[in-house]
Amino acid sequence: MTLQGSHVLLGVGGGIAAYKAAELARGLIKAGATVQVVMTAAATAFVGPATFEGLTGRPVHTGVFEDVHRVLHIRLAREADVAVFAPATTNLLAKFAGGLADDLVSSLYTALTCPIVVAPAMHTEMWLHPATQANVARLRGWGVHVAGPGEGPLAGGDVGPGRMLEPEDLVAAVAAALADGAGGPAAGALAGRRVLVTAGGTREPIDPVRFIGNRSSGKMGYALAAEAVRRGATVDLVSAPTALPPPPGVEVHDVETAMQMRAAVLPLADKADVVVAAAAVADFRPTSYRDQKIKKEAGGLGSVELTQNPDILAELGASPHRAILVGFAAETDLEEERGRDKLHRKGLDLVVINRVDMADAGFNVDTNRALLLTRTGGRREVPLTTKSEMAAVVWDEVEALLAPAPEVGT
Ligand code: CTP
Repeated sequence: MTLQGSHVLLGVGGGIAAYKAAELARGLIKAGATVQVVMTAAATAFVGPATFEGLTGRPVHTGVFEDVHRVLHIRLAREADVAVFAPATTNLLAKFAGGLADDLVSSLYTALTCPIVVAPAMHTEMWLHPATQANVARLRGWGVHVAGPGEGPLAGGDVGPGRMLEPEDLVAAVAAALADGAGGPAAGALAGRRVLVTAGGTREPIDPVRFIGNRSSGKMGYALAAEAVRRGATVDLVSAPTALPPPPGVEVHDVETAMQMRAAVLPLADKADVVVAAAAVADFRPTSYRDQKIKKEAGGLGSVELTQNPDILAELGASPHRAILVGFAAETDLEEERGRDKLHRKGLDLVVINRVDMADAGFNVDTNRALLLTRTGGRREVPLTTKSEMAAVVWDEVEALLAPAPEVGT
């Protein structure tokens, strides 16, 4: 776990532990991070901005009305790879949980899409207050890492839970949150995830003008790629020929044949958290390719000898992999047994069984109906819907299959 080269946003709240935030800034910098500090007005009553400016070598921001023309809170939120709020006071936690944005720190918080750590620090009574506990639970449910508090001496001579974690523990919590990659509440549920989608119908050439193809339009795969981008994923789309424009925010890898698709997919799948194989891959290719157009006068084509293509998805399922594998099955009836068999035979986590024998589903239409089966025995029938809505249902199922992000602290 390393912070080397990362941009850390450090939000300092108005509590006595603010003095320890200076030590935290030093620790983060020592770990290789660039640290940008923002402070609430109350925090500046405990420690002066000059302390942090001296330590970080960067201007400290305290108000939304600084740098208005560059929309400061949005710019700072976008620059951050990970954010830590230390100390996170009762008031800050309440604002974060309630979505308030009435100063720089809280406005900035609502705009963050990176992983977020909060380090609560307050008196025991305030920590144990049901409102605070509910706020913390809410933040946790949204993927915020709650680091601490620890137990020990508090301001005014009291002892109990509420003490901010030590700076070195917080540096470790920030590094763990960054490594985990899951973003905060404003991020999509797939933020930090790498997704590979295949789409379109492969073409297996016979000669320079003829090929064996299929009726896939690519619409389902493109809708899946677009929805994954909307949910914050980094998306590679390996696409056989389609008539569709590339979805914004997606890296498209154009291929034509099944063998080209295999060559593009295998290395990308190694890096992916999820592989969704929506492409209609030709099961067979002509054994030989004639590099001159076959003329009918010269006897024509006669017969075409075929060789079986490798099953890309089955190959991924059989080799060591960490990705969740999603396959599609085009059937002319919703036969559950065959679907379940395919799920296990190809080593899949989820299979989407499509009807291809109806006018409103399957090839080259904008709607679809399907049966989704998961490795863990889940079953979901999706009645007639648009392909974009179907894509949302598939990603909902995938999100449920992805391991939840580990928690930091208590
Ligand atoms: N697939 C693949 N490589 C192939 C063929 C299919 O990766 N050479 C993937 C498709 O992208 C899709 C799923 O496998 O996700 C479709 O499988 P399908 O062709 O229906 O499976 P088969 O077992 O070949 O079909 P059938 O049971 O009808 O023979």
